[in-house]
Amino acid sequence: MKKHTLCVHSGTYRDKETRGVNTPVFTSSAFEYPDMPHNIYPRYFNTPNQMAVAAKLCALENAEDGLIFSSGMAAISAVLLAFLGSGDHAVLQGDIYGGTHHFVTAEFRRFGIDYTFVSNEAEDIERAVKENTGIIFIESPSNPLLRITDIRAVARIAGARNIITAIDNTFATPVNQNPIDLGIDIVLHSGTKYLGGHSDICCGAAVSSRSLIEKIRNSAANLGGSLDANACYLLERSMKTLCIRVEKQCSNARHIAEALVDNPYIGRVYYPGLKDHPGHDTAKSQMKGFGAIVSFELNEKADPSKFIRKLNLIRPALSLGGVESTICAPAVTSHRKLTREERAALGITDGLFRLSAGIEDAGDILSDMEQALSAA
Ligand SMILES: Cc1ncc(COP(=O)(O)O)c(C=O)c1O
Repeated sequence: MKKHTLCVHSGTYRDKETRGVNTPVFTSSAFEYPDMPHNIYPRYFNTPNQMAVAAKLCALENAEDGLIFSSGMAAISAVLLAFLGSGDHAVLQGDIYGGTHHFVTAEFRRFGIDYTFVSNEAEDIERAVKENTGIIFIESPSNPLLRITDIRAVARIAGARNIITAIDNTFATPVNQNPIDLGIDIVLHSGTKYLGGHSDICCGAAVSSRSLIEKIRNSAANLGGSLDANACYLLERSMKTLCIRVEKQCSNARHIAEALVDNPYIGRVYYPGLKDHPGHDTAKSQMKGFGAIVSFELNEKADPSKFIRKLNLIRPALSLGGVESTICAPAVTSHRKLTREERAALGITDGLFRLSAGIEDAGDILSDMEQALSAA
């Protein structure tokens, strides 16, 4: 079946008694154990609501198994800690989500884990690999400059050395990119973004092969970052419209990116769908759509703080991926915990903005941007 159909139907729990078409919310946190093949418990990631939504995501990502977490960071930290221990080394793309970057720099040394941050170039990733490298972690498109990593090349480098690969697929979404098909082992999502899609839940996910998920589950059950039944249900409900939301968001983003290129107050536009984006050809070869995030820098004619205050429709907000268009300055939001020098090394300036295109009318979003730019 195709993705639009999988979004609606896959994973749904079929309630034989009522024959309701939706998965019921199983509120129990205690499940009887006699005569059951295994113990069910929310922290073991195996309640009916957790399983239903995990199955939907697995269908969309072509994964064998998956776990639903209480945040994207719960998923990312559980995966990294499941495969790394004292004496191990990790290679990570430098321009990953700021929270992941901070998790590595703040926590890894305490666990005796060594790490190297590298560019998104496959040659740099290969050069950084050591004897004791246990995992290669990438993000594509990356946050916030939408750099594109050659996913197949990374999978080849890791595969030749038996190193596990993980990708943060949040920005791409399973609608636009399926990294398991490109050779990646583990796919991670901040479900708080597009999977949830309505800016009202915090959740995360990891999907992979059955054997790797078993390993992650054992570690994650100790860490305790599972998601409760009600939030799982909201996530499952939202994912039924994932395809149609993301397709509209991507077409809006493309429209806005193309218009911003010619705007007199804009210095630079970052969008993988633009032909002059350095990762455009690679993106074309591994993505079905270019995503719904557009980053841009104001030029010296516009004042960044005035611009944000003059927006009427677009909300300046943390997070992204909701049905409403939102905007943020990464230097004071997602990458706030990095030093100014670390941000500069990643190309994140104080005048950089990241727009998350919503599902509104593209012309309305653009008009709001244009009036705010003129006023600023
Ligand atoms: C690309 C990316 N990955 C991971 C995360 C972390 O997700 P969460 O906030 O759900 O923990 C975020 C959050 O902004 C993100 O943008």
